Amino acid sequence: MSAGARKDPYLLTPGPLTTSPETKQAMLRDLGARDRPFIEMTARIRARLTEIAGAADGHDCVLVQGSGTFAVEAAVGTLVPRTGKLMVLANGTYGRRIAKIAQAIGRAFTVIETPEDAPLATGQVDRALAADPKISHVAAVHLETSSGLMNPIEDIAATVARHGRRLLIDAMSTFGGIELDARVLPFEAIIASANKCLEGVPGAAFVIARREALAEAAGNAPSLSLDLHDQWRHMAETGQFRFTPPTHVLAALDRALEEHAAEGGVRARGARYRRNREVLVEGMRALGFETYLEDALLSPIIVAFHMPGDPRFDFTTFYEALSRRGFVIYPGKLAQAETFRIGCIGRIGEREIRAALAAVAEAVEELGIEERGRRSSATRPRRTPRCPA
Ligand SMILES: Cc1ncc(COP(=O)(O)O)c(C=O)c1O
Repeated sequence: MSAGARKDPYLLTPGPLTTSPETKQAMLRDLGARDRPFIEMTARIRARLTEIAGAADGHDCVLVQGSGTFAVEAAVGTLVPRTGKLMVLANGTYGRRIAKIAQAIGRAFTVIETPEDAPLATGQVDRALAADPKISHVAAVHLETSSGLMNPIEDIAATVARHGRRLLIDAMSTFGGIELDARVLPFEAIIASANKCLEGVPGAAFVIARREALAEAAGNAPSLSLDLHDQWRHMAETGQFRFTPPTHVLAALDRALEEHAAEGGVRARGARYRRNREVLVEGMRALGFETYLEDALLSPIIVAFHMPGDPRFDFTTFYEALSRRGFVIYPGKLAQAETFRIGCIGRIGEREIRAALAAVAEAVEELGIEERGRRSSATRPRRTPRCPA
């Protein structure tokens, strides 16, 4: 179906993103929160998510109402004890957001902040852990969606485990699209949401955590609704949510998970996204755009492009020109460079990416954008919270 003939645009964003007609269709029912079909659906979703993470008896999946940030906040607040200390590894917006959460909920924390265009450095983590025995937990983002950069999570996990500390992984934009396997990756918790590589709709997130860690976290949470221990215990005992569940969102996720399995799981989905990325980057470069990251660092999930140098380029006008043609892209979110982003995830393939490239070509022509290489821009200040001494 061409973009022009569709009711909705293709969402080339990090979520909400384009979902299949069947996933949307799955929401056309009213499920009772305490009725058997919904309780069975909840159990099926939790089991499938745990299985995707390669996790078995030692782990459990806790569903959390809300967007991904709700689940990150629930995990930090519940799994890091009040006497604990969190070290946040930040090389982009989402790493910095974890530090903001720690600050907001009053957990002791420290931040290792590194450049946005380079992967987290394991050696630095190693030294920081050796130097500060108070650090009980480390938080890292698997893929910094603000730049599209993938962090070396296996190396980080091994380093954290070697020091006997516990790792929280924000895998929001990789879960279901890039392998994360609990059998080889030591972690305390993985946090993700329904509306990224799983291709569900927004409104539900989840934490896959070590069961022992969930069990020993009673009384840690500074919040009632974001108390992961309580949510886990209640779900384990009753099969139900404590408070009103997003029934329609979970019905969509249930269907999206079936499609994920039918496609061939994480590997096949990742391969489709990788192909989308290749076609996108090649096409955008042919039009004169420059990627923010060098080739070796490009991920299959989302690509940040430098804002073009042409003074006539205005992101909002460009965005609107693409939106009129049936494609929605995303603004940049980096502190250190002016960028815009195009996502490779969602129910889209090479055909839709090629159609999007044709729309980009038309838009730059219409707007008279000639110089499409990077704009020379001043570095913007960063605003990462610091832990009070
Ligand atoms: C890595 C990462 N962490 C956290 C979030 C926050 O998720 P949400 O916007 O659903 O709260 C996002 C959103 O894109 C993300 O990509």
